[in-house]
Amino acid sequence: MKDVNILAIESSCDETSMAIVKNGCECIQLTVLTQMDTHAEFGGVVPEIASRMHAENITMVLEETLNKANMTMDDIDAIAVTYAPGLLGSLLVGVEFAKTLSFVYKKPLIAVNHIAGHIYANNLEQKMVFPLLALVVSGGHTDLILMKDDYVFEHLGGTLDDAIGECYDKVARVLDLKYPGGPNVEKMALEGVHSYDLPIPMNDDSFDMSFSGLKSNIINLVHNEKQRGNEIRKADLARSFQDVAVDQLARKTELAIKKYNIKNMIIAGGVSANKYVRNEIKKVTDKYGVLLSVPRMAYCTDNAAMIGAAAYPLYIKGEFADLHLNASSSDELY
Ligand code: KG4
Ligand code: ZN
Repeated sequence: MKDVNILAIESSCDETSMAIVKNGCECIQLTVLTQMDTHAEFGGVVPEIASRMHAENITMVLEETLNKANMTMDDIDAIAVTYAPGLLGSLLVGVEFAKTLSFVYKKPLIAVNHIAGHIYANNLEQKMVFPLLALVVSGGHTDLILMKDDYVFEHLGGTLDDAIGECYDKVARVLDLKYPGGPNVEKMALEGVHSYDLPIPMNDDSFDMSFSGLKSNIINLVHNEKQRGNEIRKADLARSFQDVAVDQLARKTELAIKKYNIKNMIIAGGVSANKYVRNEIKKVTDKYGVLLSVPRMAYCTDNAAMIGAAAYPLYIKGEFADLHLNASSSDELY
């Protein structure tokens, strides 16, 4: 079969990214223009600024991606774009741009879910094996998803409140660490010992998780210690938090692996960049002889290569979108 080159666009949050992905598994070119420094000044992503910056930069990102790949639109077989979930204004910039390219260059349009993108990022490393268990951990998601086949998603469970990445970012803020907090909390935790007594969330047999109680507990603890004029052992608190938060992921993952005949476990989303998370999940998969795959860092955080990978099975099935495609902030995964 002829090679299929998909031009993929991702603009759901604060990265304007485009990629050219061959046959859903080989990233030919990836461009990621991050707005992180701009949003860092505000301590979080400002939606209005994000969508404006996407609009300003998206044409340039396309030119750079094609130029670096030494390709033109003639070499592209289809246009893929993230349509949900994410910040509506940011998504809209990508979706409208993709629709325009599809119309002008007469290329099929493929609508990709961002979470499916995080999962399919694994196909850029090694082909996923089913039944597969995906732990999706990001700033907006903490989910355990069972896949028995391509694009067959069964949501087993996940957080009932905050996402784990959001919790990392909040903890970073109370520890006076810079945005985005996750990597900074991870770094600081390396220097600490688990010496703060924090509540263990969802110590039960369900696949449900919770992070808001843990977050509030830490905010209150820091507040109370400050009021009493006590010093906070920041590294110890970072370590105690990370231990408890990640233990919850590992416990729930183990429950799912025990219940279903999982062959391949994958960790997806921004928090999968965390080495402690990877190690703790690896302990579980090793115990049950399950293959663990985690994409390289560049494919873990938001990027368009994962969207190109997720678009490929849809291209093969002929599941194309038309010019009525709209952006959506819905969390539903099909
Ligand atoms: O998937 P992603 O890039 O964007 C969303 O779709 O949310 O995930 C971003 C989240 C942020 O909350 C960030 O703090 C977190 O992933 N994150 C980490 C690490 N790297 C990124 N959290 C913990 N440890 C890390 N090393
Ligand atoms: Zn993401």
